Amino acid sequence: MATTAPTGSPPSPPSLTHPPPPRKLTSVKALSESPGLSSIPSIYTFPKQPNHEPVSDTKEPIPTIDFSLLISSNPDERSKTIRELGKACRDWGFFMVTNHGVPERMMKAMIEVCREFFELTEEEKGECEGKHVLDPIRYGTSFNPSVDKILYWRDYLKIFQHPAFHSPSNPPSFSEIALEYSKRTRGVMKEIVRGISESLGLEDKYIEKASSLENCLQIMVANLYPPCPQPELAMGLAAHTDHGLLTLLIQNDTVGLQVLHKDKLVNIHPIPNSFLVNIGDHIEILSNGKYKSVLHRAVVNDRDVRISIALAHGPAADVAVNPAPMLLEDGQNPLAYPAIKYKEYVELQQSSKLDGKSYLEHIRNRGI
Ligand code: OGA
Ligand code: NI
Repeated sequence: MATTAPTGSPPSPPSLTHPPPPRKLTSVKALSESPGLSSIPSIYTFPKQPNHEPVSDTKEPIPTIDFSLLISSNPDERSKTIRELGKACRDWGFFMVTNHGVPERMMKAMIEVCREFFELTEEEKGECEGKHVLDPIRYGTSFNPSVDKILYWRDYLKIFQHPAFHSPSNPPSFSEIALEYSKRTRGVMKEIVRGISESLGLEDKYIEKASSLENCLQIMVANLYPPCPQPELAMGLAAHTDHGLLTLLIQNDTVGLQVLHKDKLVNIHPIPNSFLVNIGDHIEILSNGKYKSVLHRAVVNDRDVRISIALAHGPAADVAVNPAPMLLEDGQNPLAYPAIKYKEYVELQQSSKLDGKSYLEHIRNRGI
């Protein structure tokens, strides 16, 4: 609510040290539903980045990993799949995972219940509005409106689901669906992390142990990108890398994700019912930069609502991971990665502006 200075008192000077309190913002959903909306407010106009022009959809397809072969009891099948996984991590940092065993109906139910959440009234959703970036349930819009110079065409719901499970109480079915989904995705994530560990020539449980994976911080991010009357001017979510080890993303059948590959942004068309998986900043750290956490962004369109659900899996909150000593070449020093606890890393990343760079690069420049 706006406050007014008492009559007669001089206006207070602008403070240079304290940012203004976050504005109470309209959700993009409400904005997109305003009658007769034909152009976007200027605060949503995103500056063009000419060096990242999207390439056409027909180029090199993103790699696919067959999960059933990754967990196969046939050692030849498994080692072949681990080699493919290593190649996908080196070449792309992004890959699709098929035959993962999570039922299609569970993935669909998760998307539907998130849609229902976003369809609640603003007042109902407002109950989930977090005050701090580490609050376990946080509904909001853009990325971080208290620091974003321009706003993104996106509403979100972020929920911490492990080691402690949280859920909004509304819609009533959210908790049951999300709990089951969070367990199943963790199971898939663990096997992929083992495969990645082996693909780096490490013991299969190396990353698991180094990051205390049994207490991994699992955060669900549900993104809503409503139709936008001027999609070429707006941005759903600016280029960023993901914190943590692995993100598993699903979406409704509307595309919008773009991944930086060989200096070009590539449109991603996921195979239905697959997980789109990307390695995060903490695999980059653990692998001493052998696998890079790759920039990606979400664009919007003028026809369809897009919903995506990203499950980010990081080390345990109090763990600070380091490059694996076995991955250093003879005489090489480990890359200067920040030795900070995962929780602090998330807090810093989530409190910052998205500026088209990996957050790792940032924090390294700050000399932390
Ligand atoms: C994210 C993200 C992309 C998308 O939530 O971190 O990158 O397609 N989302 O919504
Ligand atoms: Ni992301």
